[in-house]
Amino acid sequence: MSTALWKTKVDEVTKQRGKARETLLPCLEAIQEVSGYIPQEAVSYLRENLDVPSVDIYGVITFYGMLTTKEQGKYVIRLCNSLPCYLNNSENMLEVIERELGIKAGETSPDKNFTLEVVPCLGLCDKAPAMMINDKIYENLTEESAKKIIAELKG
Ligand code: FES
Repeated sequence: MSTALWKTKVDEVTKQRGKARETLLPCLEAIQEVSGYIPQEAVSYLRENLDVPSVDIYGVITFYGMLTTKEQGKYVIRLCNSLPCYLNNSENMLEVIERELGIKAGETSPDKNFTLEVVPCLGLCDKAPAMMINDKIYENLTEESAKKIIAELKG
């Protein structure tokens, strides 16, 4: 993703809301949305423009699970592994997905198409095991459905 795009977004947000510490989170969300992650240069840009120390910026990024400084794949798979999902075979789903993608949890595929993450409860416990791929929810996963979903995304 080009630098210009996230810079444009940050400039839009600061124009609307002002260059203040309170603008940090909306700026980070805008960068994450257009770039898929928060690049180091964006942190520097925010530090200079909002006058917020880097340590505070990284603190906010760490606090909000949907923000990351790691470059992510086109598809970010977030598989829940909290207790209700775990009791409904999420470990097995993880093995299936890792095998289908050839990557482990926490990794991004070499072609940058997939990032696989294991996350806490997604709030879909009554439909466990569950996962999200980008903004889309997948519930009641089975080995077959997980394989099918991955195959469709691989194209
Ligand atoms: S435990 Fe998996 S969605 Fe809640």
